[in-house]
Order: sequence, then C-alpha cells, then structure tokens
Amino acid sequence: MIAHPERGHNLPLFKPLTIAITMSVAEFLNRPLPIAYGYQTLRNRVALAPMAGMTDVPFRTLAWRFGAGHMVSEMVTSKPELWDTGKSRARRVLISEVRPQAVQIAGHDPATMAESARRLTGEGVEWVDLNFGCPAKKVCRKAAGSALLANIDQISRIVAAVVSAVDVPVSIKTRTGLSLEDSAGTEAAIAAQEAGAQLVVMHGRSRACRFKGHACPDRVREARRSLRVPLLVNGDIVDDASAEQALKSSGADGVMLGRGAMGQPWIFAEFLGLEMPTAAERFDFIREHLDAMHSFYGEDTGVRIARKHIQAYLQRWGTPQWTGDFMGLTSAQQQHAWLLARREQMLLHAAINTSQSNAAA
Ligand SMILES: Cc1cc2nc3c(=O)[nH]c(=O)nc-3n(C[C@H](O)[C@H](O)[C@H](O)COP(=O)(O)O)c2cc1C
Repeated sequence: MIAHPERGHNLPLFKPLTIAITMSVAEFLNRPLPIAYGYQTLRNRVALAPMAGMTDVPFRTLAWRFGAGHMVSEMVTSKPELWDTGKSRARRVLISEVRPQAVQIAGHDPATMAESARRLTGEGVEWVDLNFGCPAKKVCRKAAGSALLANIDQISRIVAAVVSAVDVPVSIKTRTGLSLEDSAGTEAAIAAQEAGAQLVVMHGRSRACRFKGHACPDRVREARRSLRVPLLVNGDIVDDASAEQALKSSGADGVMLGRGAMGQPWIFAEFLGLEMPTAAERFDFIREHLDAMHSFYGEDTGVRIARKHIQAYLQRWGTPQWTGDFMGLTSAQQQHAWLLARREQMLLHAAINTSQSNAAA
C-alpha cells in the first residue's frame, strides 16, 4: 500500500501487467486497465491519441463505438482569453456515451492550468490530461508542451496544482526526452506521478525527433520500470505486429495510437479481435461520419474538416486518386452526393482487394 500524495489515505499499489509470451495482443488489450489505484477502470488497453484537427467529437464518437478504451480531447489551451473561442468550445464538447470524459490542456503556468482544470470539471469533465509532449513551435514558444521537459520542477508544480484543484484523475502525455539520448521523459513521468498523476502516456520519440524517424518503444521501458502508475506506449503503432513489438519492448500496460486510426476508426475492433464491419458497413460509417462533421461544425467548417478525413478514408480504401475531385467540392450536399455516387465502385474495389489478399494468404 502507498499513500496517495494528495488524498492522504492508503491505496492499493497498481500491479503492472506485461504481455505474456503466450498471450495474443487482442487478449492483452481486452483486459480492463485499473486507474487511480483501482477507483476507475479503462474498459480496455487500446487508446486513441489526441490529434488536434483530427480526433474531434465526430471522430472520437466513431472510435469509441469501435472499441477504443480511452481517449482525450484535442489539446485545449489553458489561456483564459482563448477559453471562449469557437475552437476551444468545440474541443471541450463532451460525448455522452464516452467514459471517462477526458480533456487535454496545454499551458505552462500552474495556477492557470489548475483554474482551467477546475472549470473543465465544472463542465462535467471526468479526467484531465496534461500535454508535456507537443513539439509544435506555437506551443513550445510559450514554454508549454515538450518544452517543459527542460524544466521538470515546473512539470511537478503544474501537476501538483492541477491534482489539488480537481477531484478527478490527472494524466500526462509526454515524449522520451529532449533528445534521444536523455531521460527527461522518465524524469517528467516520475515527477508527475509523485505530484499525483495517475497515468502516463509516452510517445517513443524525443522532442528533437518531432515526427521524424521511427518511434523507439524500448526508450519507454525505463519509464515503465520506474513508475507505480500505469503507462501507455505511443508512436507508430498501426497493426497487431507493431502493437506487440511496442508492448514487448516497452513493458507498457497498453497502447495509444493516433495516425494509425486515421481513415479507419474500425482499427480498434481489429486490435481487440472484435467482429469487423463489412465493406458496405464501412461505407455507411464514412457517410455517417461525413454527416456528423457537417452537423457538429456547421456546413462551412464541416465541409473543410471533411476533406482531411475523406482523404484519409480514400487512402485506406486504396483509391487515393479520387481525393483531388473531393477537395473541390464546396457544399455538404455536393460532398454527400459525390460519396454516394462512388458507392458501387468502392465496394467493388474492396471486394477485389479482399479476394487478392485471400489469394495471397
Ligand atoms: C496532426 C496531429 C495532431 C496532434 N495533436 C496532438 C495534441 O493535440 N495533443 C497531443 O498530446 N498530441 C498530439 N499529437 C501527437 C499524437 O497524439 C501522437 O503522440 C503522435 O502522433 C504519435 O503517435 P502515432 O504514431 O500513433 O500517430 C498530434 C499528432 C498529429 C499527427
């Protein structure tokens, strides 16, 4: 038993579960993940990574339906003056069926971050995630995101302030370090845990790597070994094989994937060994997603956001040559009509792909 740093009472120790040689990835990922010393549980161990501009409410709604066990909102700034912009408000919209309702905050000032967390929980947020991993210049110039890996004491102060401001689990998402050689990510994870964070997500790249090269899940192992709270490994996980490799080389308690889910939110069902939607069902989900984007954002923004997602769907479908056509469409009605007109061709394409891969197997 250990004493929770903020809440003072004795709580059972989290027992990390590493993937056993004899266990399939699906078996492992299907296990619920106890969080907050067992007071909360994530329904499984495969999470959707936050991606600003992509993992919005319409996309997360689909990912949850296909089985994602955890997801946080796209990053929301803690700056009070930007709290009421349309963008911040849209990122804070909660999805009623998702549990826990988690929002990610970026910022550098402990008091402001704590105040944002308090406001979020007032709006019904059940989990606060802190961004210590974003390498974007816009974020790092403000000494936030991965820039904070150069100031572990500040990370401690931020986590401690947020943990004492709210009565919900607080997690952090970070990278392995400032460069591939240092261990700032592990130090940040330990500091965050000691300040009361209850889950760590670590992207196996350093701040200097940005998105270049391959993620190194073995660089996450040191953090897993040093922590008492659960850890999810992130970076370049796109299928069973990469999930297995990331789990085995990091010893992590679960995986988080971002780009691998773009254009295929059903990938969560695949990871979990659940029944996969047929091509016709997938096509219907794409139409549903398109509809959801138009209604969530309104027509102008919805049409623009839909371009990125439909591009991703067409790429996954093996028909990227159609993307250019779709980009030129300017209304919700045109986008729907365009998609519907391609239904038969898309289903035919999927059938040919399936028979070719069956023949190759
Ligand atoms: C377009 C884009 C936007 C992202 N936005 C965020 C964000 O808002 N918050 C965050 O913590 N990470 C963000 N990330 C990083 C991802 O969460 C994830 O760590 C990274 O993409 C590596 O995982 P993957 O290889 O599975 O995509 C973003 C990544 C991309 C590509």
